[in-house]
Amino acid sequence: MFTEDVPVVVEDVRRRPAAEREAVLADPGFGRHFTDSMFVARYESGRGWYDARLTQYGPLPMDPGTAALHYAQSIFEGLKAYAQPDGSVATFRPEANAARFARSADRLAMPQVPEQAFLAAVDALVDADRAWVPTGPDQTLYLRPYMLASESFLGVRPAHEYLFLVIASPAGAYFPRGVHPVSVFVSEDYVRAAPGGTGDVKCAGNYAASLRPQQQASELGCDQVVYLDAVERRYIEELGGMNLFFVLGSGEDAELVTPELSGTLLPGITRDSLMTVARELGHRVTERKVSLEEWRSGALDGTVTESFACGTAAVITPVGEVKARTGDFTVGDGTPGPLTMRLREALLDIQHGRVADTRGWLH
Ligand code: COI
Repeated sequence: MFTEDVPVVVEDVRRRPAAEREAVLADPGFGRHFTDSMFVARYESGRGWYDARLTQYGPLPMDPGTAALHYAQSIFEGLKAYAQPDGSVATFRPEANAARFARSADRLAMPQVPEQAFLAAVDALVDADRAWVPTGPDQTLYLRPYMLASESFLGVRPAHEYLFLVIASPAGAYFPRGVHPVSVFVSEDYVRAAPGGTGDVKCAGNYAASLRPQQQASELGCDQVVYLDAVERRYIEELGGMNLFFVLGSGEDAELVTPELSGTLLPGITRDSLMTVARELGHRVTERKVSLEEWRSGALDGTVTESFACGTAAVITPVGEVKARTGDFTVGDGTPGPLTMRLREALLDIQHGRVADTRGWLH
């Protein structure tokens, strides 16, 4: 069942031949290939959710007046399914994605997808397309639940019709160079989110607005953009698609620091999981404001020993070189730091079922 009174209709889909699938799984990259099926449910004001189905992956028929295309009333999530050593497949903390999706829907005046419906849709797709869950080292099936305003209407108001979809894409490393440190560009011209805006939810428009700064970063030879707070243009927020962490000190006493959730940062599920894992490993973890100046001076005097970015897609990616108009610097010796790598292994061990799931994070 999708919701209490809406069953999931499972249609016959054309399955690509095993050889074709295996060729994709041998080198999936990120976000390029999609599985055979997709989940779709419809919503209408006054009627609620209806017509939930697992159907053939393929184009959506869309009216040119579809509201989401004009006013970006569109939200999404990202989570992964992991092949487990016993042959089963598990998703990681999907309840947390469902909860964030609910907050995003609320902020964009969209209907709620109840947690059970969200989980049922994700489970149904993973189950139907489990042959697409890759088994190579650190490979996963990336799942993308999303909702869009499907009503054809050009007035600016919450739409009366919506589509909720889940699609799946086999994934290798998000960054083509794998766990190689990325270089980042601190944007001092653009901000990602302002207080009262949409920075703490996962809506499509946040990502559209990040593309110009991302282009600027690429022109300067950097992989990603670091955003500062919109008010003082002083404190580190996030990378736009990933949260940031800083390691202060080294060894057993190393402290993990990450920008506090100010209302303009996305509350990452990987961010939250890493804070738990780091605490379990005995490290002090602090959420607080971190200024660009503190990052720079800490990197230069050795107080900040490591920095890394984290997210569902990218897992943990070390940050090496930092470019900013006010002066460039390098964190540590520019290679992945020991706590970065330890946390990465610890998280991947949990997700891939290589250690016992003591926290109930696998579903
Ligand atoms: C994720 O990590 O899942 C994200 O949503 C980031 C990006 C791929 C948009």
